[in-house]
Amino acid sequence: MLAALCASAACIGGLPSAASAAYQPATSLGPAEGTARVITTLEAEGMTSQEKLVLNINRRVQLQNRVPLEFPGFVREGFDVKVVADGYLTAPSGLIYRDFEEGRGLLPVDGQEVVFNYTGYNESGSVIDTSFKQGRPAQTRLGVNGMIPGFEEGIRGMKAGGVRRFIVPPALGPPVGPSTFFSAKQCEVFDVELLDVRTCTRRQVMMFSDVVCE
Ligand SMILES: *[C@@H]1O[C@H](CO)[C@@H](O)[C@H](O)[C@H]1NC(C)=O
Ligand SMILES: *[C@@H]1O[C@H](CO)[C@@H](O)[C@H](O)[C@H]1NC(C)=O
Repeated sequence: MLAALCASAACIGGLPSAASAAYQPATSLGPAEGTARVITTLEAEGMTSQEKLVLNINRRVQLQNRVPLEFPGFVREGFDVKVVADGYLTAPSGLIYRDFEEGRGLLPVDGQEVVFNYTGYNESGSVIDTSFKQGRPAQTRLGVNGMIPGFEEGIRGMKAGGVRRFIVPPALGPPVGPSTFFSAKQCEVFDVELLDVRTCTRRQVMMFSDVVCE
């Protein structure tokens, strides 16, 4: 049986689009991305009636899309969005996350390979990407810019066995073209279960060298 071989960043071939879009660092002159701010359902009761209407419409579409339990609500006003969700933390980067299972062991570090199942949703709760359709978990190494920044940051904070939902704001998302007057970039929600963290070593076989993770 062949071990999983990861010779380069290309080894993320099994990792579909939304999580693995090649990342181009944003320039400070880039387009406005807007802000995503999390508020609790209790705080949401203090929103204006217009905002509540927007939330209700969002909730209704999410319901049609059969979102999982306690899916965050989105109240978008142009570039800025209020994320209605309970129990979430916001990292200094702007990544919004909640752990449902802590997991065990050490946090994964650069060069290690993470093996995980995930499903990604847009603000409507529509599935944009999932490892389940691949029939096997996704795997990639950390620190090779193989994942969108918010996704990689979210995984870095997890331990094997951990289950986390994270909300990636547009600034940490894939480079999908500039926001325009008519359409702001969207947040993405990811449900991730980190199944395994593997340590990789470089192996030399004749004149070839590759990386083995186990
Ligand atoms: C989410 O994705 C669905 C399917 O592609 C699309 O119809 C919908 O407009 C998207 N929602 C948002 C908020 O972008
Ligand atoms: C992860 O997903 C694969 C299919 O992609 C499935 O076979 C496996 O059972 C899943 N593992 C868990 C722990 O859900």
